[in-house]
Amino acid sequence: MGDPHPEIHAKLHATDLTRTFGRPPRVVDALGPLDLTVAPGEFVCLVGPSGCGKSTLLRIAAGLLRPSTGTLEIRTVSARPAAMIFQDYGIYDWKTVRANVRFGLDIQRVPRREANARADEWLARMGLADFAHAYPATLSGGMRQRVAIARALAVEPELLLMDEPFAALDAQLRMILQDELLEITQALRTTTLFITHSLEEAIVLGDRVLVMSARPGRIIAEHHPPFPRPRTGDIRSDPEFTSLKRELWELLRKEAAPA
Ligand SMILES: Nc1ncnc2c1ncn2[C@@H]1O[C@H](COP(=O)(O)OP(=O)(O)O)[C@@H](O)[C@H]1O
Ligand SMILES: [Mg+2]
Repeated sequence: MGDPHPEIHAKLHATDLTRTFGRPPRVVDALGPLDLTVAPGEFVCLVGPSGCGKSTLLRIAAGLLRPSTGTLEIRTVSARPAAMIFQDYGIYDWKTVRANVRFGLDIQRVPRREANARADEWLARMGLADFAHAYPATLSGGMRQRVAIARALAVEPELLLMDEPFAALDAQLRMILQDELLEITQALRTTTLFITHSLEEAIVLGDRVLVMSARPGRIIAEHHPPFPRPRTGDIRSDPEFTSLKRELWELLRKEAAPA
């Protein structure tokens, strides 16, 4: 069944990955050991309790942090980089919305005229066409996060890394952006590693849902939500959705309980 050697073609491949912080006698084991493979076109969701090492993993994947032991490789074949989206938007307040979306294209030295056109295309797609010249401070949280998504996707990344991107948003907005993300990543087949503490979010979005233990985060369960692609948010009312959520919650509850 499937690819017998998924690691060969993987966009992301981690082996025996661990990360500790601090020095003896105050060492914090934050992550792992953990093995993870993300195949081309796959949407993998990692769900785990607060403080289990999710952001540590994503920061290692983004090259912002070194592992303590083990390896994590990103294998992008083109010059297109991996793009990262954070919980707190990570957009620049002193740049206009359009300049924010253009940011990655500017780094790639895409000519200004083309970069503006591509930025405007993504802004239109995210319902932000009228805000190209606005500054982020004048936007709502949901709009700011749309700017961050447009900026990440405008470079057409081979690998999209998302760290609880919708955690700061209210429930309705969160569902709207989940549905939008589904539509876009299904259309573009973007390889995505998505971190969340919400089971519901993980099940809606993921081809695979990996459940992490409490710190140091290891992968304790793997599920394949049985909803065919292309999916829409309608699966939220599917009885299978509810039963999978309950099943995963049984696992996560043990990990999330205070020690
Ligand atoms: N730079 C750091 N220095 C010391 N401890 C850290 C650092 N970054 C994270 N940690 C610790 O590592 C653990 C995992 O953190 P994090 O990866 O942010 O968890 P999560 O994103 O799952 O909530 C936590 O106990 C956190 O306090
Ligand atoms: Mg985090």
